[in-house]
Amino acid sequence: MRALIVDPGVAGGLRLGEAPDPVPGPGQLLVEVRHTSLNSAELYFAQRGAPGDVIGFDSAGVVVRGAADGSGPAVGSRVVGFGEGGGFGALRALDVADVAVVPDEVDLGEAATLPVAAGTALRALEQAGPLLGRRVLVTGASGGVGGFAVQLAALGGAYVIGVAGSEDGARWVGELGASEVVAGADEVKEPLDVVIDAVGGAQLVSAYGLLAPGGSLQSVGWAAGRDAVLPVGVTLGSSTPKAIVSVYNGGGLTDRQAQLRRLLALVGDGRLRVPVGWRGPWDRIAEAVAALSGRSLRGKAVLDVL
Ligand SMILES: NC(=O)c1ccc[n+]([C@@H]2O[C@H](COP(=O)([O-])OP(=O)(O)OC[C@H]3O[C@@H](n4cnc5c(N)ncnc54)[C@H](OP(=O)(O)O)[C@@H]3O)[C@@H](O)[C@H]2O)c1
Repeated sequence: MRALIVDPGVAGGLRLGEAPDPVPGPGQLLVEVRHTSLNSAELYFAQRGAPGDVIGFDSAGVVVRGAADGSGPAVGSRVVGFGEGGGFGALRALDVADVAVVPDEVDLGEAATLPVAAGTALRALEQAGPLLGRRVLVTGASGGVGGFAVQLAALGGAYVIGVAGSEDGARWVGELGASEVVAGADEVKEPLDVVIDAVGGAQLVSAYGLLAPGGSLQSVGWAAGRDAVLPVGVTLGSSTPKAIVSVYNGGGLTDRQAQLRRLLALVGDGRLRVPVGWRGPWDRIAEAVAALSGRSLRGKAVLDVL
């Protein structure tokens, strides 16, 4: 099959090439992939994978062979799914449990952005508890996870403050429905109930310091690639604890399909916008990688499989 394969010799570490077709297991569908999306973790794996590896998490396409055990969507169904690796191939074997049928009203390319980025945002917000009337800070709000987190928190009734590192990014985050946009967590003056932190480093330190008693910082990622050095004693001194909680939306979760269905329903009825900042054919992968790694990408990059 055609695939974006790891190649340490090219800019960005990925290029269009050939790879062996996947062989589905008994509980897996074979999907002809039409779209995938680029996530920041894939930049990491592109630099560290073996030459020829097919990495990638998100795929959307059409079922070309049903699962041998008879479970899951039939041949011809439009589906989106998640897997650990293999997402950048033109064919993909996906566990039935990690796949959801895409409603007709949802664009298949937009659906391809949901498993990792939107799924992680939803999981982090659910871990944080009720949102109605709460003050929620989203760091990395101009990015993939952040763009969904801003919207989902607003849908849940929160007062959402987005952090964006550029004027252009701030405009983008405002258009997604943030009540307020700041250039850094240190600009926030009032206490926060919830932090969805995709950046780590100094943003995590400032945001944790702003948490009200009982609040939580949901640690999604470390896009800044910097240590977070907490001031002495900052974790002490409240009778109502405040927490730093890890967020995991990778392989092995049992609620993936339910999560995808909920997100697809929100997109389908127009309540959740898919924030696509770049879309193009997959042979332009180097361009998409450069935008993501250079922080010029807003929201998600969708790659159309040719
Ligand atoms: N826990 C999980 O299961 C899970 C799932 C998905 C992603 N993640 C992690 O979550 C983080 C965000 O993922 P994403 O896909 O949303 O990434 P993304 O699209 O690149 O967004 C990250 C945002 O962080 C901001 N940022 C601030 N400092 C940065 C720096 N030094 N370098 C790069 N970006 C910086 C950027 O916004 P500005 O330029 O506007 O500041 C950027 O838009 C990543 O670390 C990723 O690995 C974790």
